[in-house]
Amino acid sequence: MKSITIQPALSVNGEITVPGDKSISHRSIMLGAIANGVTTIRGFLRGEDNMATMGAFRAMGVRIEDDGEIVTIHGQGLRGLREPADIIDCGNSGTSIRLLTGLLAGQSFFSVVTGDQYLRKRPMKRVVEPLVRMGARIMGRDKGTLAPLAITGGALNAIGYESPVSSAQVKSAIMLAGLYADGETSVREPTLSRDHSERMFRLFGASLEVFKNGVTVRGGTELTGQEIGVPGDISSAAFFMVAALVTPGAELLIRNVGINPTRTGIIDILRSMGGSLELLHEREVSGEPVADVLVRSSRLKAIQISGDVVPRAIDEFPVICVAAACAEGRTTVRGAKELRVKETDRIAAMATNLRTLGVVVEECDDGMDILGTERLGGGTVESYGDHRIAMSLSVAALVSHGGITIRDVECVATSFPSFFPLLEQVAGR
Ligand code: S3P
Repeated sequence: MKSITIQPALSVNGEITVPGDKSISHRSIMLGAIANGVTTIRGFLRGEDNMATMGAFRAMGVRIEDDGEIVTIHGQGLRGLREPADIIDCGNSGTSIRLLTGLLAGQSFFSVVTGDQYLRKRPMKRVVEPLVRMGARIMGRDKGTLAPLAITGGALNAIGYESPVSSAQVKSAIMLAGLYADGETSVREPTLSRDHSERMFRLFGASLEVFKNGVTVRGGTELTGQEIGVPGDISSAAFFMVAALVTPGAELLIRNVGINPTRTGIIDILRSMGGSLELLHEREVSGEPVADVLVRSSRLKAIQISGDVVPRAIDEFPVICVAAACAEGRTTVRGAKELRVKETDRIAAMATNLRTLGVVVEECDDGMDILGTERLGGGTVESYGDHRIAMSLSVAALVSHGGITIRDVECVATSFPSFFPLLEQVAGR
């Protein structure tokens, strides 16, 4: 297990780009593989999670080339995937396993999907249950609720599904299965989760209709290969936004960031805390809004976070906790129980780690209270194998007393392999 020690920074300055959006990268491989014709992807994220998705489709007979700049997928059409010869290993990637399970449910072959020790603990019932309702045959550990999942694909029937959780992975798994179902499949969720699938399905020519907090997909429509440009991942940019806000005298321009409104909860939250974030040069690329984000150091104040903004910032809570630890007053987070079933239990992980750094934190079932402090302490903290915990603590280190050692940081490669060099590049010492 590799550890890293990050020293405090005087400031954070410069101009950067962050790697491509993870969610959009997954979807562009998946839809490219089952479309007719060629799909090209520029800005594809070459993190371990996305490489797992790429490997899965190669194992199903899809030719995918990568020249380091552009990924080219030779689409096989809706019915052109082949039975994989071995189990499909999704590594740490929840998006790979859940979306693939939906797609595989509609194929005319057998497949098994699994993942690493963390993924095999994460709940799969949320996708298995609606897919079984569509007629899928899926077996797995603990009554089909944990990976490995064995999927005997076949004919599916359309359903109308009211999802109990706001989850883009659940919604997208059902949408992918819906492409193979007989009729119109609908999913409605309590509040809208990220809508990258809806946007990309439309781009590829799928027959779909969006409505308030939901979507309907008509089965059987063939897709057409596209040229996709993937914007920088706002979830990766978030670490640098907070780094610039909490260090004095900082000014950082983050170019080419995806600002899909279902993902910009982080900007809304940081602005309500008093953060200076300006969106420049707003534009649209491949059906997704994009901008450059200019961040200046700011005095942050505590706020109350709950409601619809929570799914719009769901992956950013570890770094929001760091912002809260540096803010004046008591920040509260509620309605965020989903954080307990991410790559690790992110409420417990951040509470434990922030306490190690001398911050007063109280945990509750669906959130936490964080009392901001003048200066974070130093010490050794744990990633728990979760990339976003590791990167958030690295941001905390920039404003710590004497630096922070973070244990088990290999996991950063799942979503942001160039994170540490980029952090060093912008951190003035
Ligand atoms: C994702 C959806 C979210 C998010 C994850 C990526 C996606 O998960 O946390 O990092 O690409 O669909 P949930 O669907 O579990 O909320």
